[in-house]
Amino acid sequence: MKIGNKNLPEQYIIYGAMGLGGEWGDEKPVTPKDIDEGRLALDTAIDCGLTFFDLADIYKSGKSEIVFGHYLKENPHIREKIIIQSKVGIQLTGVPFGSRFNYSYSHIIESVDGILSRLGTDYLDILLMHRPDPLMEKDELKKAMDELFSKKKIRALGVSNMDHHQIRLIEAYTGRKIVANQLELSLLKTDFVCNTVGFNNSMGKNLDFPIGTLEYCMLNGVSLQSWSPLARGIFSGKTLDDKTAETVKKTKEIVNRMAEAKDVSADGIVLAWLMKHPGRINPVIGSKTPERIKKAMDAFKVELTRDEWYELLVASKDQNMP
Ligand SMILES: NC(=O)c1ccc[n+]([C@@H]2O[C@H](COP(=O)([O-])OP(=O)(O)OC[C@H]3O[C@@H](n4cnc5c(N)ncnc54)[C@H](OP(=O)(O)O)[C@@H]3O)[C@@H](O)[C@H]2O)c1
Repeated sequence: MKIGNKNLPEQYIIYGAMGLGGEWGDEKPVTPKDIDEGRLALDTAIDCGLTFFDLADIYKSGKSEIVFGHYLKENPHIREKIIIQSKVGIQLTGVPFGSRFNYSYSHIIESVDGILSRLGTDYLDILLMHRPDPLMEKDELKKAMDELFSKKKIRALGVSNMDHHQIRLIEAYTGRKIVANQLELSLLKTDFVCNTVGFNNSMGKNLDFPIGTLEYCMLNGVSLQSWSPLARGIFSGKTLDDKTAETVKKTKEIVNRMAEAKDVSADGIVLAWLMKHPGRINPVIGSKTPERIKKAMDAFKVELTRDEWYELLVASKDQNMP
């Protein structure tokens, strides 16, 4: 895939910057400690060869982008070598109202301007629409996208948490190609696989992934990105307690057994499971701990066999194949 003049390999790991910027909420501003922590994580990601970064206007109420902006200011030479992707469309309204989704012209334009100002850059490589807004109006969305593309503030458009019908609707409304769909896919969230094998079988019941979405993306050059690909570490090192499901504990044991046998990290096995899927899923890893970021790179060192891949799926689902 090519974004602007930047070529992307067939498959890659994305660094997700949601963890940068200190605490959630906008009461406390970014601190020097947050900036140092961000520098360490981003230096590590870049040293590991990562060149694709995922952000969103709402992450830590914009503070994640402020920290990233500090890093870009310190390292201006990297801007043309990296892909910066951010998201708009969720409007934080604060307690007690919770969030709203907002695809109005003014919200989109103001949000993108806010992102660019926090990052200190004049363009985003990719803008993702974060979650679907049921009140999305064609004219508003098209006007916003026409303006963002014509002013060269964005180079490509993608979505997150959307099914294939919603992708087609946005493509039809805007006349623009959707280049990526970011979804929660992992060894914990296996419904994207189970719904393809669950016809006439109990495995196909109560699944939470829209049938046809994966296939649409694969057929139409919509690159698949997975958020929370490590399921926040539950299979690869996070301390589990009495409340943790037996399925998770059993899957973790298998992950560890495979990691030991192949001399790679458990994180590598969890990501390799995801990356073996022919949809060429690109994991968006979210750790800010240098050691964990480095361990994730083991995913490129290992290829699971067909049997190992199924063993992990069956264990995590706690159900045999039909
Ligand atoms: N599109 C969306 O709706 C959406 C939603 C959520 C996230 N995202 C994107 O996806 C990225 C990744 O999400 P994620 O952070 O949930 O993914 P993740 O990579 O599965 O999990 C990373 C998180 O789990 C913790 N963790 C990982 N391994 C651990 C271990 N062994 N022990 C203890 N803690 C461990 C990390 O803590 P440390 O930082 O302390 O290492 C970090 O908080 C985000 O940064 C964001 O860019 C998108």
